[in-house]
Amino acid sequence: MLTHIFNKIDNNDPLSRDDIKFMLSLETEADIQSLYQKAYSIKEQTVGTKVFFRGIVEFSNICEKDCYYCGIRKSNENAERFMLTADQIVESALWAHQSEYGSIVLQSGERSDPWYIDLIEEVLERVKAETSGELGITLSLGEQSENTYKRWFKAGGHRYLLRIETTNPELYGKLHPPDHSFEERCECLKLLRKLGYQVGTGVMIGLPYQTIDDLAGDILFFKDNDIDMIGMGPYIVHHETPLADVMPDFDNDRQLDLGLKMVAVARIVLRDVNIAATTALQALNPTGREMGLKAGANIIMPNITETKYRASYQLYNGKPCLDENSTMCRGCLQRRIDSIGEKIGFNEWGDSPHFIKKSNCKKTTGA
Ligand code: 5AD
Ligand code: FES
Repeated sequence: MLTHIFNKIDNNDPLSRDDIKFMLSLETEADIQSLYQKAYSIKEQTVGTKVFFRGIVEFSNICEKDCYYCGIRKSNENAERFMLTADQIVESALWAHQSEYGSIVLQSGERSDPWYIDLIEEVLERVKAETSGELGITLSLGEQSENTYKRWFKAGGHRYLLRIETTNPELYGKLHPPDHSFEERCECLKLLRKLGYQVGTGVMIGLPYQTIDDLAGDILFFKDNDIDMIGMGPYIVHHETPLADVMPDFDNDRQLDLGLKMVAVARIVLRDVNIAATTALQALNPTGREMGLKAGANIIMPNITETKYRASYQLYNGKPCLDENSTMCRGCLQRRIDSIGEKIGFNEWGDSPHFIKKSNCKKTTGA
């Protein structure tokens, strides 16, 4: 069956939901390794083996949302809330630029008050001006109104990451309070696309109640929605959340394997999109991100947040690199990437080839 699926891949035949489920269900070490090798060869042909860095500034854990899995949800009274100033955020961005990272990601808990919206706009304008437009900027700031997305795009944000978390609406309902809406999240993804952003989404892998069929549905959702960038990672328990006791049989290795299989299958099915080897992989295994790159990912998001704030931004327990600073992380990553024989795309934006092809096509057809 796997040989049959690999033949289909080689002939560029479309893969069915069952094919995807079959690949995600592989169990033997030999089969899993050949899946990763297949994904890696597609990565070589489509996006190449250069790794692009997006330095991530996790600048505030103040959050209006209350997702049942997340350590910074608004009802977690144990989370010590913080918010960096505009100057501090800009300073981290400039560090990334000087350190030759092609892009940054600005991420925080979700909020939509006017003061916050203005502050992000100001930060974007300052980063654009102070780096002469050289630094790529991805935003990961949750659900916002069309007007806010528009303002931030105009100010310099050109990529947006908004995870759908799971594409099964029923499962979405079990993981969120009733006022969190799956449909609104889908609408936000559509708005972002319409406004011209490169659109990224993703899911958590190995969630309570989640099935292999759900995960296959996630991959098909990415394809059907023409997604440019994928940021997905294993679900990891946070002990101060309502979901903490739902998975008493939480198994680190299973979560890691499933996370890596999803990366590989996403590469095989989606081919030319950017896929991140996320920090949650590293939380489960110190070399988890390298494993992600070997399974088909091509993006890494090094944490460039000031060290003293890192411990307060814990979405899940066991987040790595809490005591390190950004310079240490840069050196560590360089060694890790050297160790797997890949190169880092310093000073390059590393846009998703999937997005670039669409833009070129629009230019030539005038569409
Ligand atoms: N485990 C793994 N990922 C999590 N996130 C939130 N909580 C957890 C958790 N317990 C992810 C969500 C969110 C992103 C910023 O972090 O997918 O979109
Ligand atoms: Fe929703 Fe943190 S509260 S992801």
